[in-house]
Amino acid sequence: MNDFIDIDLELLRIDTILGVDLYLKSSSGFVLYRSRNIPFNEKVRGNLLNHGVKELYIPSSESAKFNRYIENNLASILADEKVSIERKRKIAYESSQNVARELIQDPTSPTVVKRATKIVEGLVDLHQKDDGGFQKIIQLMPGDYSIINHSANVATYSIAIGKSLGVSKNDLYELGVGALLHDIGKSKVPMGILNKPARLTSDEFNMVKEHVLYGLKMASNNPVVPKQSLIPILNHHERLTGIGYPYGKSESEIPLFGLITAVADSFDAMTTNRVYQKALSSFKALEILLTETDNYDIKVLGELLKLMGPDKANLKLKANPITDLNSEELPKQKLII
Ligand SMILES: [Fe+2]
Repeated sequence: MNDFIDIDLELLRIDTILGVDLYLKSSSGFVLYRSRNIPFNEKVRGNLLNHGVKELYIPSSESAKFNRYIENNLASILADEKVSIERKRKIAYESSQNVARELIQDPTSPTVVKRATKIVEGLVDLHQKDDGGFQKIIQLMPGDYSIINHSANVATYSIAIGKSLGVSKNDLYELGVGALLHDIGKSKVPMGILNKPARLTSDEFNMVKEHVLYGLKMASNNPVVPKQSLIPILNHHERLTGIGYPYGKSESEIPLFGLITAVADSFDAMTTNRVYQKALSSFKALEILLTETDNYDIKVLGELLKLMGPDKANLKLKANPITDLNSEELPKQKLII
């Protein structure tokens, strides 16, 4: 028998066809309420609300189809004052995860990348209206690392940092698209290497490094990707001292979008469970990054520090290394992968 998942009525757009059958929950089980091809309308919504019904159900086997419905209607849902801000955050974040999953499977598809750009528009819109919502979105992030979660998280962190730095709305959008796509080149690196639970050999590390130029090529061949969105893809592993890759750029050679995504990328990689490393607390990850101000831009780190909240107030921006990192110290290689 099918499992069912609940759907909040507030998400269903008036006069749209869901393409998914809707069910009511009764004492005897789930009952078909509305067939997939009949538009949902105001009268139906009113009837349900009059009867105290706030949720309908869909078979869980149709959740991917429903997610596409939500994605197609994301702008309308995010603009709807009746939809709670908590719901909007969840939908926007989950849509970025869903499209990141498809990007990794099909990284050169103009259709999928176009969908990704629409979702980033929604994310930017949400961040701009939702002051203080960043910490709530972080709570939605799964604790385990995957390229999918990581891509969605780096987009969220980058947009939030960019907003704090005063980046314009259109630039935030192009930054967000680049951040969501920053690791698409990893689709060409063998999974066995990406998930190796031990230190990489230098040959393996060189193969991982190639993801940057693979990603750049994929994205630059895609007419849907804005030019500025190539910057995060190309520069997220560059470091101010020149120890990064692929070109070993230093200082002012690294554009702002590269500096932002470098911090976002490293912070997320440190604060999620990896096959070779348990997640660090956000406090410890910030503490480590703050010992690396020769490699990470101090202004960008400062914005992340502010965004992460007042409990990080006793962390200070300083250039001197903290020596007491105990067992949570990361090998240098892990800071730049
Ligand atoms: Fe990367």
